[in-house]
Amino acid sequence: MRLNNKRALITGGSDGIGLAIAEAFLREGADITIVGRDPGKLQAAHDSLTGARADGTVETLSADLATGIGIEAVVELVKRSGRPLDILVNNAGVAFLVPFADVTEVQFQQSFALNVMAVFFLTQGLMPHLATGASVINISSYFANKMIPKRPSSLYSLSKGALNSLTKSLAFELGPRGIRVNAIAPGTVDTAMRRRTVDNLPAEAKAELKAYVERSYPLGRIGRPDDLAGMAVHLASDEAAWTSGGIFAVDGGYTAG
Ligand SMILES: NC(=O)c1ccc[n+]([C@@H]2O[C@H](COP(=O)([O-])OP(=O)(O)OC[C@H]3O[C@@H](n4cnc5c(N)ncnc54)[C@H](OP(=O)(O)O)[C@@H]3O)[C@@H](O)[C@H]2O)c1
Repeated sequence: MRLNNKRALITGGSDGIGLAIAEAFLREGADITIVGRDPGKLQAAHDSLTGARADGTVETLSADLATGIGIEAVVELVKRSGRPLDILVNNAGVAFLVPFADVTEVQFQQSFALNVMAVFFLTQGLMPHLATGASVINISSYFANKMIPKRPSSLYSLSKGALNSLTKSLAFELGPRGIRVNAIAPGTVDTAMRRRTVDNLPAEAKAELKAYVERSYPLGRIGRPDDLAGMAVHLASDEAAWTSGGIFAVDGGYTAG
């Protein structure tokens, strides 16, 4: 198993991409901690993860990472355990796909609080508790660099662009401590987040988006959460011991065009 004896923490590990990564890490022998806000979702994720054949352990923590208190709670949990973290996946994120003219200051603050500040200050707070050789994996988005017609993304793209910059600067700064920092930039993945941004579109816009997606993805479909898991396992493992500062597209070929 590729992650035997490693300890991993996955933010937003109770659903979607984070849950698929948590499942894959467990299968590869890691002990995992998943963080989300909703205790019910965390319990359901815990039950499904521990129901699967797995060697590692599963721990959950309810914390709102868009707040300083939530970030402190995660740092405190890791500190109290006395066991350094080998893998940190900064996955929890929020997407407001709102026309530029309509973006509110509250939406701006919420986006940056979770997509940027939480990654910044959680990683900073966990620094003393990261093992030598630790792997930090940030979940970015194709939206940092590539837009979709009629899917206004100024705010979301800005936050994921900032996350990409942070990924590269931290790879540079933390490299001498033996810490690797990479990002995965998924294409569109069928999760609750995607459904939230699509479900309220008028029928015509929904059909247009579906047709656009079908002709834009060389592999002919959008992603499933577990499509991201293989890259996450690779970056978390010692196979990627000399990989840092990369932004890896896992998107069915979408950004190749
Ligand atoms: N889905 C896509 O098409 C897509 C494409 C590219 C990139 N991404 C990125 O992939 C990541 C995961 O997205 P997803 O689609 O898997 O989302 P999702 O299905 O909505 O899951 C989000 C997870 O994050 C947790 N979360 C949300 N807000 C949180 C907060 N303030 N504090 C702590 N946990 C929080 C959620 O649990 P609670 O709600 O209980 O807190 C849940 O576990 C995000 O960074 C997203 O930007 C997604």
